[in-house]
Amino acid sequence: MTTFGCQMNAHDSERIKGMLEELGLGEAPSKGEADVLVFNTCTIREKPDTKFAAYMGEAAARKRERPEMIIAVGGCYAEAQRERLFSLYPDVDVAFGPGTIPHLAEWLGAGGFGVERGVWGTGEERKFAATLPMHRERRFQAWVQISMGCNSTCSYCIVPAVRGREVSRRPGDVLAEVTHLAQQGVRELTLLGQNVNSWGRDLLPEIHTEFGELLRACDAVDGIDRIRFTSPHPKDFRRPVIEAMAECAAVCEHAHLPLQSGSTRILKAMRRTYSRERYLKLVGELRAGIPDLALTTDIIVGFPGETEADFRETMEVVEEVAFDGAFTFVYSPRAGTDAAVMPDQVPDEIKRDRIDRLVRLVQRLAAERNELRVGRVEEVLVEGPSRTDPSVLRGRTRRNTTVNFVGAAAPGDFVDVLIERATSTTLGGSQAAVAVA
Ligand code: 5AD
Ligand code: SF4
Repeated sequence: MTTFGCQMNAHDSERIKGMLEELGLGEAPSKGEADVLVFNTCTIREKPDTKFAAYMGEAAARKRERPEMIIAVGGCYAEAQRERLFSLYPDVDVAFGPGTIPHLAEWLGAGGFGVERGVWGTGEERKFAATLPMHRERRFQAWVQISMGCNSTCSYCIVPAVRGREVSRRPGDVLAEVTHLAQQGVRELTLLGQNVNSWGRDLLPEIHTEFGELLRACDAVDGIDRIRFTSPHPKDFRRPVIEAMAECAAVCEHAHLPLQSGSTRILKAMRRTYSRERYLKLVGELRAGIPDLALTTDIIVGFPGETEADFRETMEVVEEVAFDGAFTFVYSPRAGTDAAVMPDQVPDEIKRDRIDRLVRLVQRLAAERNELRVGRVEEVLVEGPSRTDPSVLRGRTRRNTTVNFVGAAAPGDFVDVLIERATSTTLGGSQAAVAVA
């Protein structure tokens, strides 16, 4: 891991390290031996791009020797150069912004890399559970893993091969951890699983439950004000979960719903088991059931056989849904997956061109969506000072948008912020009143 820039980035790097450790990825003795190179970048300091370019040159040379190595680029430079990053540095596998560190871990541990983790219920439990306070970047936010493995067989994804079948954590164990975290001062929870919406199925016949019920149980824990989850598979998003999201005060109005492709033909080749129409129908149901819902997604471009027409269908769905944000990935063949040996692999230049176009569209739509928030008062959970201006505070809305605002509050406070400005990834404003002490 190489960190550039400010204190905030150093702090984030600690958090990235913690999450990677949870995935079983420790620090490598040297760069040459690393399976994953993480660059946490900066745009503030003088000439960070030239320094970064030099590091990337070196990383690209290493990757030529070891093509399986993953290059991940995060931080402010990655965020600022989103549109061009993949064109500028074709060896980058995954980019992530300052607010999307949990997602990096998900990609590396799941779709991207597939690192084996321990097993539930044994001594390994320590690795996932609440006994990792030093890995918790903020005392008021926590991630809770609810399942591991995956029963789907998406043809691009390494998870089923390395992680095996889905194992759900028992509801009693999840709730014990959540209660413990709440007692320690945690206000915001993110429940993690490869497919949170199939949680509980493997507990039958002993325990009869589903994810909606788990959301309701977490919602009932005293002190937990916000509940998030990632990721739900569109094929398993059912009524009880939509109802729980609508009815539970703590469950945030945000769903991260991986689309992957907007072409039914490609979705079939990916073995996602839903069509473009079914995805759009689900989006309609979610929006009808949960007022003011924010929708984000994952999209892969350049899957084998993806034609310009298929890609246009993805662009159409993105435009139609108007996502609040999207993680965009260049398809990368993972040894051992079916897609890696499919004919018609898409040439790199075409993949780069498509991701650049997609990122531009995503940014335009996200900016438009954020613009709609201007003039509203949003409840913000304060996370700390702004990354660029320490006199300004930063936090997140229930819809998971980052807000930089002028005010007087401490990390962990909930405050009302009047939104005055918007970009594609952030909102800006000023504190209206303290909502919850
Ligand atoms: N190539 C590119 N992106 C991938 N993902 C998973 N596997 C791959 C791959 N081989 C992406 C998917 C998933 C996210 C976590 O990572 O979009 O939703
Ligand atoms: Fe991989 Fe598909 Fe399972 Fe997600 S649902 S972990 S993409 S196999």
